[in-house]
Amino acid sequence: MRILITAGPTREYLDDVRYLSNASSGQMGYALARSAIAAGHEVALVSGPVTINPPAGCEIYQVETTDEMFAQCEKLFPNCDGVIGTAAVCDYRIKTRKPGKIAKTGEAITLELIETIDVLAELGTQKGSRWVMGFALESQDARFNAVRKLYSKKCDAIVLNSVSAIGSSENFVEVIDQSQEIVATYSGEKTQVADSLIDWIQQHLAGS
Ligand code: CTP
Ligand code: CA
Repeated sequence: MRILITAGPTREYLDDVRYLSNASSGQMGYALARSAIAAGHEVALVSGPVTINPPAGCEIYQVETTDEMFAQCEKLFPNCDGVIGTAAVCDYRIKTRKPGKIAKTGEAITLELIETIDVLAELGTQKGSRWVMGFALESQDARFNAVRKLYSKKCDAIVLNSVSAIGSSENFVEVIDQSQEIVATYSGEKTQVADSLIDWIQQHLAGS
């Protein structure tokens, strides 16, 4: 298979020097890329800014903003068999980016934020015969919200990630498929969890 993987955070600039983002390390996406390559697949990795190196043998596309991530994915997706969305996409951007640098005023300021494009949901609408696996990070009503995202983003499966996984080398995940049931659980080092998830994809999504 040729697999598209999104990873890392995106950045949304408020002005020329400041941005909104999050603490995603990119580890889960990069581990999946490594596992997929080890299993004999081709990987196109579209990554926001992270400090880790992509695995050998992987095509890497570095992006910064959510729009850039989407544009790159939209180009690559038609030539892939499926997509795994691990990116911690920045959900909001400033409505009007200010040129230069916003100066202090001595008073509170209000920023008007609007939602960014949903990369995975857009790819879901374009998927045709391709498969789509999402990741979901929830702090409450985890399974309910994960199932809601599975449908709204037209995913074939969604991986429910534990909040404690952020920035950690370990993870505990539950795979939920369109039956709305938990069909697999994996825990341990992200590298091991990644091997298991690629194996699960090969058995359940390949050729779907
Ligand atoms: N995702 C995406 N583009 C976005 C937001 C999310 O591609 N703008 C993808 C993520 O990479 C992940 C899945 O959608 O695979 C779920 O991300 P998550 O942040 O859990 O869900 P959201 O839809 O953003 O909802 P919320 O953050 O409000 O819970
Ligand atoms: Ca989000």
